[in-house]
Amino acid sequence: MGKSTGFLYLNEEDMIKAGVLDVAHCIDVEEELFGLLSKGDYVMGGDKHNAHGIALKFPKESPFPNMPIDAPDRRFMAMPAYVGGRFHVAGQKWYGSNIINPQRGLPRSILMVMLNDADTCEPLALMSANLVSAVRTGCVPGVATRYLARKGARVCSCIGAGPVSKACFDAIVLEAKELEEVIICDLFIEKAEAFAKEVEEKYHLKARGTTNLEEAIRAADIISVAASSLKPIHLDNSWLKPGSLIMFTGRCNIDEDFYLSSKVIWDHAGMHEVYYDEHLLLPENERFINGIGVEIYRMMYEGKLPPITEATSLGDVINGTRAGRESEEERICFVTGGLPVWDVGWSYEIYQNALKLGLGQMLKLWDSPHLN
Ligand SMILES: NC(=O)c1ccc[n+]([C@@H]2O[C@H](COP(=O)([O-])OP(=O)(O)OC[C@H]3O[C@@H](n4cnc5c(N)ncnc54)[C@H](O)[C@@H]3O)[C@@H](O)[C@H]2O)c1
Repeated sequence: MGKSTGFLYLNEEDMIKAGVLDVAHCIDVEEELFGLLSKGDYVMGGDKHNAHGIALKFPKESPFPNMPIDAPDRRFMAMPAYVGGRFHVAGQKWYGSNIINPQRGLPRSILMVMLNDADTCEPLALMSANLVSAVRTGCVPGVATRYLARKGARVCSCIGAGPVSKACFDAIVLEAKELEEVIICDLFIEKAEAFAKEVEEKYHLKARGTTNLEEAIRAADIISVAASSLKPIHLDNSWLKPGSLIMFTGRCNIDEDFYLSSKVIWDHAGMHEVYYDEHLLLPENERFINGIGVEIYRMMYEGKLPPITEATSLGDVINGTRAGRESEEERICFVTGGLPVWDVGWSYEIYQNALKLGLGQMLKLWDSPHLN
C-alpha cells in the first residue's frame, strides 16, 4: 500500500475569503520575496534558473483551421519557481491570454496556480489565480514606492486605466503617505475619468482623468505605467521632474538622455539577463523590439550603459547591498517584468490562510498510487 495524496482546490471566492486581496499584507510578503531573490534563495526555470517562464505563442498563419493564430496579447504561459526561506515550496502559474475575451464576459487572461511539496513533489493546492496575479503585480510598485520614492511625493500619475494599473495604484497609495492628487491618463477619456472617480470615492484624494500624456508626466512625483500595447508610449526626458520615480509595469520608453542621467533599478536583474541573452539570439532587425525595458537593453548592447550583469535589483536595495535613492533630486526608473516567485510566494501565503480557515475543497489524487 502506497501513500494517499490529496490537494486543496481553492476557487476565486475561497481565495478572497483567504485574503488574496489584502494589498498591505502582499506588499510585506513581496518585500520578503525580493529579499530572497537578492540572496539567491529561489530557483526559476531555464539553464540560468532565472527564466520568467515558457511562452506558448501561436504561428502567424496555419494550415490547420482550429489552430489559434498569433494576435496581440495572445499566448499561453507556464511560469514555474521554487521559493526558499520560510516558504520552501515549488509551484507554477499557468495562464492563457486572449484580447477578445472581455467581449465574451471573461477576463483577458485566465490564471491558475499549482503548489507542490518541494520534497515529495505531491500537489498541495490548485488555486484560482487571477486575483493572485493582479495583486502580486500591483504590489511590486508598492514595494518600489516604499524604497525608491522621494519623501513628500504629492502627485501620482497612472498611465493606463485597466485592471493592472488600478492594482498598482491600490498598492502605491498605501506607501505614498503624503499623496494629495492623482492623474489618470488613458487613450480613452471615459476610462480615465471612471478610474479617477473610483480613486476619489475609495481614497478621498483629488483625482482627474486626461488623455494628455505630457501633462500627466510633468505634474507627477510618482508615475506608474501599466498600459497595454494599443499605442506605444514614448516620453520626453524633459517631462520628468527632478526626484521623480517612474515605474514600468507595462511597456514604456523614454529618450536615451533620461537613462544616461537617471538611475535604473530592476525587479530582478537575473531575469532580465536571460531576456537580454534571448534577444541576442534573434536576427538583428528583431532584437530589442518586444518587452518591457528592451530599449534599455539596446543601450546596454550599444555600450551606452553598463551591462545588465552590473544592474541593481530592488532586492539588493532592500537587503542593503546596493544603493537605492541617494538624493531627493535623483530620478529613478523601476522596471518590472513579472516573476513567478511572487505568484508562488503569494499563493503559498493564501494557501496557508485557507488551511487555517478550513476553506476550499480537498480533492483526491489517489488513495494509493497505481504505479508504485
Ligand atoms: N510586469 C508585470 O508583472 C505585468 C503583469 C501583468 C500585466 N502586465 C502588463 O500590464 C499592462 C496592462 O494590463 P491590463 O490587463 O490592465 O490591460 P488592459 O488592456 O485591460 O488596459 C490597458 C489600458 O491601457 C490603455 N492604453 C493603451 N495604450 C495607451 C497609451 N499609449 N496611453 C494611455 N493609455 C493607454 C488602454 O486604453 C487600456 O485602458 C499590459 O501591457 C500587461 O502586459 C504586466
